[in-house]
Amino acid sequence: MKRICVTGAAGFIGSNYVRYKLAQDPGVHCIVFDKLTYAGNLDNLKDLPKDRYTFIKGDIADKAAIRAAMEGCDAVVNFAADTHVDRSIMGATDFISTNVTGVYNILESARELKTARVLLVSTDEVYGSIREGSFKETSPPGPRNPYSASKAGGDLMGLAHFETFRTPVMITRGSNTYGPYQYPEKVMPLFITNLIDGQQVPLYKGGENNVRDWLYAEDHASGVDTALMKGEPGNIYNVAGGNERENIVLTRRLLSLLGRGEEFIKLVPDRPGHDFRYSIDASKLRALGWRPKMDWDTGVAKTVEWYKANEWWWRKIKSGEFLAYYKRQYEDRK
Ligand code: NAD
Ligand code: TYD
Repeated sequence: MKRICVTGAAGFIGSNYVRYKLAQDPGVHCIVFDKLTYAGNLDNLKDLPKDRYTFIKGDIADKAAIRAAMEGCDAVVNFAADTHVDRSIMGATDFISTNVTGVYNILESARELKTARVLLVSTDEVYGSIREGSFKETSPPGPRNPYSASKAGGDLMGLAHFETFRTPVMITRGSNTYGPYQYPEKVMPLFITNLIDGQQVPLYKGGENNVRDWLYAEDHASGVDTALMKGEPGNIYNVAGGNERENIVLTRRLLSLLGRGEEFIKLVPDRPGHDFRYSIDASKLRALGWRPKMDWDTGVAKTVEWYKANEWWWRKIKSGEFLAYYKRQYEDRK
């Protein structure tokens, strides 16, 4: 593959994917197409060689813009999304525009341009919550919040496009991802940066024992790439970290790594409809040769070190829009 359009690549996982892909394949050029929403940040790509990617600012909900960016590309990998559950509870209009209409525009552009491979990056959240066992790719979607419902909508449109038009669509469903360059609204970077600053961490009361399966960003990138290169069109591939932890266990690990005591935990009212546990079985992707490389203890320690060493990156983010969001999300919580 010579030229890949990577949408949403100024965000967290997309930028880690471009970094991974450029290192893996010296002959590839990436078209980075990104709207630069509050979560998009060109600093995420700052260390990458400028001649290996072309940045285009645009919205996947704008059909003409995404079609033009995809022209001449062998593949499109879609990371562009509105991604934060708590924001989707405040209002989901942008989620529907990007995660459903935007995906549809990518599919239609791929059909018109005869793009050889279309990979839609999705999430384990589309299956919903599970008390015991793990979801497989054959499990039906059961999303329970506006974010996951919009992602399921995009996935279903992708599968329908494959059935109807044979558009070569593959879908990956990854578990909760962590690592460098994650916008500090998500639990891990939010808690780390708060603790660095000597601030309490807002742990959802009632959700202390809720479980997430943690996947290191580079492992998520390699999972997406395995599906892109070796997957079969019309198929879904789960990408699981294999590191299920209760939120309280994660919180205590971060307190310990940052030398803070239990008094830094602030229990705040729970998220409405808070999914109890996400768990997926990734044996289908493993059968293509993929394995996550990072173990949880090392990954969390490395992530803490990264945020400690890269205050230049997150301090400018934790101002302006972020502070208004933080106040609305946490201080005004009834
Ligand atoms: P992110 O919020 O960090 O980044 C999203 C990026 O998409 C940003 O750069 C933003 O500017 C861009 N974007 C948003 N709307 C756009 C639009 N309309 N047009 C073009 N660009 C737009 O997200 P992330 O955490 O990197 O997630 C990437 C993908 O992975 C998403 O599809 C998400 O559903 C999925 N995913 C995330 C996780 C996780 O834990 N973060 C886990 C599984 C799957
Ligand atoms: P989050 O990072 O928002 O990811 P997701 O909801 O997509 O899994 O949240 C991860 C877990 O952490 C989830 O169970 C909710 C919890 N959480 C808190 O307890 N406090 C917080 O401030 C946030 C953002 C999340």
